[in-house]
Amino acid sequence: MNQLKDLLVDELRDLLHAEGQLLTALPKMAKAAHHPKLKETFLNHLHQTEGQVERLKAAFDLLGEKPEPKPCKAMMGLVTEGAETIKEGEERPMIAADLGLIAAAQRVEHYEISGYGTARSLARQIGETQVARLLTQTLGEEESADFLLTELSKPLMQEASSAMSKTQRKSAKAGK
Ligand SMILES: [Fe+2]
Repeated sequence: MNQLKDLLVDELRDLLHAEGQLLTALPKMAKAAHHPKLKETFLNHLHQTEGQVERLKAAFDLLGEKPEPKPCKAMMGLVTEGAETIKEGEERPMIAADLGLIAAAQRVEHYEISGYGTARSLARQIGETQVARLLTQTLGEEESADFLLTELSKPLMQEASSAMSKTQRKSAKAGK
């Protein structure tokens, strides 16, 4: 019995379940996002996620295993937190709500980056180069989604802090 292959299959089953949950969570995140670019990023990532599920299925095929998902409790937790963030965002100014969504999404991306990174190392170690190649493609998408979210957060933070200093200047004037 190949213990590394078993472990790889287990990791892939976890990722399959994680991606499946994102297929329902991402449209909700996109709906809640205010900034059009953030909305677009979530929708693009939803489209990528559909492809990632297909890639995982192809990886199972290459390994001669059935694509059976294994409940990913970590992603369930992250998705539950994401739903909370959406709810809390309804009470927040738009920029803060969007920044909260970005934070929740980046947690998800980091979880996936870690999972795909491990799975790829295992695939390489047992000489499953085609599987490793599929995982590299997905890993690249997750990393660029994470990067895009960081880039999107920068102008939002600047906008929020300049609005804050304007308010502070106004109240300082009013206090004179
Ligand atoms: Fe993904």
